[in-house]
Amino acid sequence: MSEKRRNAKYGAQTNLIHGGTQRSQFGETSEAIFMNSGYTYESAATAELRFKGEAEGFIYTRFGNPTTKMFEDRLALLDGAEYCYATATGMAAANTSLFSILKAGDHIVAGRAMFGSNVYIADDLLPRFGVSSTIVDGRDIDAWQQAIRPNTKVFLLETPTNPGIELVDIAAVSKLCKANGIILIVDNVFATPILQEPFKLGADIVFYSATKLIDGQGRAMAGAVLCNDEEIAAQVLTYIRQTGPSCSPFNAWIMLKGLETLDLRVRQQTLNAEKVADFLYGRKHVSKMLYPTHKSHPQYELAKQQMTGGGNMLAIEIAGGKDQAFKFCNALELVLYSNNLGDTKSLICHPATTTHQRLDEEFRQKLGITSGLLRLNVGLENVEDVIADLEQALAQL
Ligand SMILES: Cc1ncc(COP(=O)(O)O)c(C=O)c1O
Repeated sequence: MSEKRRNAKYGAQTNLIHGGTQRSQFGETSEAIFMNSGYTYESAATAELRFKGEAEGFIYTRFGNPTTKMFEDRLALLDGAEYCYATATGMAAANTSLFSILKAGDHIVAGRAMFGSNVYIADDLLPRFGVSSTIVDGRDIDAWQQAIRPNTKVFLLETPTNPGIELVDIAAVSKLCKANGIILIVDNVFATPILQEPFKLGADIVFYSATKLIDGQGRAMAGAVLCNDEEIAAQVLTYIRQTGPSCSPFNAWIMLKGLETLDLRVRQQTLNAEKVADFLYGRKHVSKMLYPTHKSHPQYELAKQQMTGGGNMLAIEIAGGKDQAFKFCNALELVLYSNNLGDTKSLICHPATTTHQRLDEEFRQKLGITSGLLRLNVGLENVEDVIADLEQALAQL
């Protein structure tokens, strides 16, 4: 860990405002956007040294840029990670995490309840390149254990899951990893580092879709891969350098500024979501409500143990299936229909016909993605307004 990070004397919120900042000769208050692809060198010899890794300095924005670095350093501070690499999207981060460290002949075990594209990489794409995969019910620790083979290199999990709000016990899965020399990769998109710290629970790699809560305002796409192991970091950096899933400096700047308000937004959206969860639980026409820290959640104890708050995402099932679920969504006036999430605007979507449409019906049922299931992103509006909107839409069923 760099001296600066190890000696960080400030609290998390202070680091979110100031962490990683590098000022140009103009002393700008807000961080500068360096929109350049290349760099000039004072001499050919300087360029040679930089390419050899014997002199400090940027070479090419595909794998290094001052604005992108400020974002990476700020996020690394928050997550308690030594290394952070920004990517173009969350899926570029997922892809980079996996492809940078796996090779043909390896085996990966993944929790089955994950964002559809994560399932696609684990279950469809990797096997095409000779990496076999086993998909397990992530809630079942015995299933993770039983799936281990001599060539198992990686465990991949997401918690809470999109959209079923299932939890995976990171510490218990990490224990298995440590005992078997397996690398644990955690998608921490729903919780963010504000509510869940996977490195403290034993994760080796954490990745984000920064598109979600880190931006938080639906403006731009980005992702990030974080780790503490030098060898893994070198593999990740080489992969980014050679294959180019890199983050635009402009998008990195948006994410850097997003981090400044992340803590405030996540905490307030969590408070709002708790109220929405209380309102929706047990309501007429709502056959199921899933929110991690609601007492009714089947993994409530685990949520309390590994998260400091339930987050802004919840799932509900509308009785009567797709027709009623669609009717409910269409009756909403303030809550918008969108497959995006993490936004300050409250958003709702029907995963079975959107984000998880590609999965076959049997698999969807296993994940609890029924025809009535809706995923709700609770935003930053006056929560009374959101609840009133949900109430009037339910009354139309
Ligand atoms: C849990 C999770 N992981 C990864 C992603 C992918 O992120 P992106 O859309 O930035 O590629 C998403 C997107 O919805 C997600 O919800």
